[in-house]
Amino acid sequence: MPPIAYLECSRCHAHISAATPQTVCPQCTTQPAGSLFVRYDFTELKEKKANDVIAKDAAGPWVGMWRYRSVLPEVVPVTLGEGWTPMLKSGRHRGAYLKEEGANPTGTFKARGLAMAVTMAKHYGLRKLAVPSAGNAAGALAAYAAAAGIEAHIFMPLDVPFANYVEAIAYGAHVELVNGLISDCARMVQERKQQEGWFDISTLKEPFRVEGKKTMGYELVEQLGWEYPDAVFYPTGGGVGLIGMWKAFEEMEELGWVQPGKPPKMIAVQSSGCAPVVRAYDEGAQASVMWKDAATFASGLRVPKPYGDAIILDIVRASDGLAMAVSDDEILASILDWARNEGIFLSPEGASVTAAYDKLIANGYLEPSDRVVLFNTGAGLKYTDVTAEAMELKRPAAQ
Ligand SMILES: Cc1ncc(COP(=O)(O)O)c(C=O)c1O
Ligand SMILES: [Zn+2]
Repeated sequence: MPPIAYLECSRCHAHISAATPQTVCPQCTTQPAGSLFVRYDFTELKEKKANDVIAKDAAGPWVGMWRYRSVLPEVVPVTLGEGWTPMLKSGRHRGAYLKEEGANPTGTFKARGLAMAVTMAKHYGLRKLAVPSAGNAAGALAAYAAAAGIEAHIFMPLDVPFANYVEAIAYGAHVELVNGLISDCARMVQERKQQEGWFDISTLKEPFRVEGKKTMGYELVEQLGWEYPDAVFYPTGGGVGLIGMWKAFEEMEELGWVQPGKPPKMIAVQSSGCAPVVRAYDEGAQASVMWKDAATFASGLRVPKPYGDAIILDIVRASDGLAMAVSDDEILASILDWARNEGIFLSPEGASVTAAYDKLIANGYLEPSDRVVLFNTGAGLKYTDVTAEAMELKRPAAQ
C-alpha cells in the first residue's frame, strides 16, 4: 500500500501533512480555500501490473471497493460491503453500460465516500461528525458512523425523500430537518461546528470522500477490461464522484494501469430546475453563481452552488466533455422507460443521465456504438414517495 506523501491544495498547490485531520487548505490566502487532495508515493506500485496487485488483494478479505486498497490510505476499513457494483450492459443501446450504484449499502454511491471518510475519522480518533446533505450522504454517514461507534450530526432539507429521514433516524443519527436547501444546511454546520466540537465532513471540505469515490473510476476501467470508455455520464450535484473519477484516471495513467492520453469525455448532467454548473459551462465561466429557487425531484442534484464548481468545470473542459441539463419531465420519462424496457428502477439522478444520453444520441454528439458508462448513482427504491408524486400515483383507498 502506498504511503500518503502529502495533501495537495487544489488552488494554491500547498503541500499539507495528513498526520492530523484536515478540512480545506489552511494556506490559501483568498476564499474559498482550495480542497485538499491525497497524493501518494507510487514508486513501488509503478513496478507492478494492475491485475497482479488487485487480484491478490481481492482474493483476501478486501471485498468491494477495498480491492483497490493498494491505491487507498493504509488503514483498517469501516466497511459495510461498498463498491464493486454491477456494470450492466443495456439491452437496447449498443454501446451503453449502466453502472448500478444502487447496489451499494444504503442504496447509493455515497456509501463509497462516506466509508472512506468515516474510516479516516476513526483512524484520527474523531468522535463527532457533521454533514449538510441533500439526503443520501446523510443516510450513508449515519450508517458508517453507527458501524464505527461515532456520533453523526445530520442537516438536510425538510422535503428530502422520506427514506433518507427514516434511515438516518434508524441508524441513530442526530437529525435536523431544515426548511431550506443544502446550502442553508451547510451554513448551520459552519456556524455551530466549533462550539459543538463537530468535524465537518461536507463535500470537498475534507480530503477522503473523494478517495472513496475515486474507486468508481478504477472500477469502471477494470470492468471494461482496463480500457477507457468514450464517455462517462455523471449526475452532478456537489461533483465529488466526477472529481474522484478524474483523479482515478490520472493515477491510473501514472501507474501505467491504463493506456494514457485519451480519458473519457466527462458529461456532467444536472436538472434544469437547478443547473449552476451547466450555466457556468455555457457562459464560459470559471465558477458558478448561486442558483435561485432550486427545485427538482432529483434531490441529489439540488445543490445551488457546489463548493468544487471550479474543479468540476476544469475537468469537464479538460476531458472535452460537456455539461447539460434535462427537465424533471424528461427524468420521469426516462425512469419509466428504463423500468419498463430494461427492468431497472433508476433514481431520478440516474435517470437524468439516461435522459441526457438519449439527447446526445439524438443530436449526433454521440454514436450508438460509442462506449459510454451511465451512472445510476442510487436505487430507485429510495425515492418511492417523490417518484410516485411525480407520477401522480396514489395508494388506492381501501374498499
Ligand atoms: C443519488 C445521487 N446522485 C447524485 C448526487 C450528486 O452527487 P455529487 O454531489 O457527487 O455530485 C447525489 C447527491 O446527493 C445523490 O444522492
Ligand atoms: Zn491552498
